[in-house]
Amino acid sequence: MAMSTTYRIAPSILSADFARLGDEVKNVIAAGADWIHFDVMDNHYVPNLTFGPMICQALKPHAKTADGRAVPIDVHLMVQPVDALAAAFADAGADLISFHPDASTHVHRSVQAIKAKGCQVGVVFNPAETLDVLDWVIDDIDLILIMSVNPGFGGQGFIDSALRKVAQARRRIEASGRDIRLEVDGGIKADNIRRVADAGADTFVAGSAIFGKPCYKAVIDQMRQALA
Ligand code: DX5
Ligand code: ZN
Repeated sequence: MAMSTTYRIAPSILSADFARLGDEVKNVIAAGADWIHFDVMDNHYVPNLTFGPMICQALKPHAKTADGRAVPIDVHLMVQPVDALAAAFADAGADLISFHPDASTHVHRSVQAIKAKGCQVGVVFNPAETLDVLDWVIDDIDLILIMSVNPGFGGQGFIDSALRKVAQARRRIEASGRDIRLEVDGGIKADNIRRVADAGADTFVAGSAIFGKPCYKAVIDQMRQALA
């Protein structure tokens, strides 16, 4: 199956100005963001605490392009347990909800529950996590998220072994014959995004590379040029 060439940039608001989140979402969409990556941390599954469904609900009306097209909110749950919060985020307007299988007692049931809420569903793999669970859920998911940092913080360095896992995930997607997005999250910059795409990724999370800079559009344009 021809690999999807529709690349997507998903800025992570973990590195945005938390005092102006609405403006930040609007600004990064105006700068060309395809998705808004929403990093949920519970200070239990990961050693950090961010934001919950109410913030997602508050941001939802702002996740739109200038001509009114909705921009998907890509919720990344770094939480344990998963199911109740996933349902709350679905009610708060999440378009995609990804969770870590090692944070769910019943992975297939969590996948079914998220889909039953009408959301697209993804599974997330930490740097030392194998892809084995895909044997039993790949036909039910819309997104695979490969962590290229250990979850919990922005601004970390890219873990190169993630490239091997991206290639493995791409082979599994092709074997499945399904149109599953392959997203990579952590340490992505304009100067390494091409390597990640060459390994097989089509969707890229970037937090500090974008929100840490004065001009979001300049960075996103640089990333798109590297992907062209
Ligand atoms: C880390 C989060 C990532 C992080 C990426 O746990 O899942 O989305 O925000 O941040 P950067 O792009 O700064 O590595
Ligand atoms: Zn994330």
